[in-house]
Amino acid sequence: MAIDCSWQKKIETILAQAGNRVDNVTGSISMPLYFSTAYRHEGLGKSTGYDYSRMTEPTRDVLEDVLAQMENGAKAFAVSSGMAAIQLVFSQFKSDDHIIVSDDLYGGSFRFFDLLANQYHLRFSKWDGQDYQELDRLLADGGKAVWIETPSNPTMKVIDIQRAADHAHAVSAQLLVDNTFYTPLIQQPLNEGADIVVHSATKYLSGHNDLLAGVVVCKTEETAAVIGQNLITTGPNLAPFDSWLLLRSLKTLPLRLAKQEENAQTLVADFNQSELIDEVRYPGRGGMVSIYVNKSVDIDRFLSALKVISFAESLGGTETLITVPAVQTHADMTPAEREKTGITENLLRVSCGIEASSDLILDFHQALAAATDDNVAEANSVKEQVAETFGVEKELIHD
Ligand SMILES: Cc1ncc(COP(=O)(O)O)c(C=O)c1O
Repeated sequence: MAIDCSWQKKIETILAQAGNRVDNVTGSISMPLYFSTAYRHEGLGKSTGYDYSRMTEPTRDVLEDVLAQMENGAKAFAVSSGMAAIQLVFSQFKSDDHIIVSDDLYGGSFRFFDLLANQYHLRFSKWDGQDYQELDRLLADGGKAVWIETPSNPTMKVIDIQRAADHAHAVSAQLLVDNTFYTPLIQQPLNEGADIVVHSATKYLSGHNDLLAGVVVCKTEETAAVIGQNLITTGPNLAPFDSWLLLRSLKTLPLRLAKQEENAQTLVADFNQSELIDEVRYPGRGGMVSIYVNKSVDIDRFLSALKVISFAESLGGTETLITVPAVQTHADMTPAEREKTGITENLLRVSCGIEASSDLILDFHQALAAATDDNVAEANSVKEQVAETFGVEKELIHD
């Protein structure tokens, strides 16, 4: 009896096998790396399919094929950063086009939208991601697209992708989703009606805090044709070695994300018991947790006291990182805008890594304890005594 070998493989299998069974010449399991920018032709009108690497190159081609399968899109493009991916998506639009964006996004996206508004006269409106009558009202004013992140960064609001897509499509607008936080292992926006998905692959997809990359995945060939043409015109393509690194990283994404999510859930349970944490924002899935720390905690002291977790501005990697959005990722927003969206100075964004959760919990406990009012007051009085004894300024004495 013949067995059908064309079954739809699971995403874990597609990722684990990324780049394998591609090189029929040597049979290499790991995808070969092609550095060549130019490709020889046998004669006029003849080509191997590769001409010049701004158009296509073999390593990136295989990566893009895996990325398209992963998000269930018609075509994917691998570019040099998440911001390059966002810029590529916006290369479809022109002056006076109206884009509705959810109000809690990566700060760099807002910075880019300001640039587009000020220099290229695109129009932007903010939407809270929940009020669909308001969305319809905004879309009615020449809406060309709706741009969302869900869960939102950093306040973790969840937006209904299918519902937002239905409203956008009712006026022939596109739904564009930045899927950096959840990855296609948790949500596949194209299956829920989105037209384009974007990733900062610098985060979960590459996952080791060592690669800057971005991804655009288009649902249809028609959209991909427009985006693809703009890509080869402007050339933000991902370089061969970086393409190879991303291909390799994708193989372990399911394992990494499972552990990151497990750590996030363990930390959330612990945070919920802490008197020093006022509020925990966790959407139930993924490795990202936001916390509002009690005002009695000196944030600077807390960050300096950490022994395992690092205070750094990124997410999705194997190492647990803490970001202070108000002074890092969202520093370019006005204080009023930050206050309105809940990005206060005591909001910390935790990107859970793959360490043993017990070490993360212990690190949180010891750093919070070192940074509470009592300890800070005690440390200050010790510093004052030392300063007086040695006749030096208190500020010059470090912990
Ligand atoms: C959700 C999200 N989208 C896009 C970006 C931009 O990506 P990159 O830093 O790779 O340019 C970031 C960066 O932090 C992000 O968090």
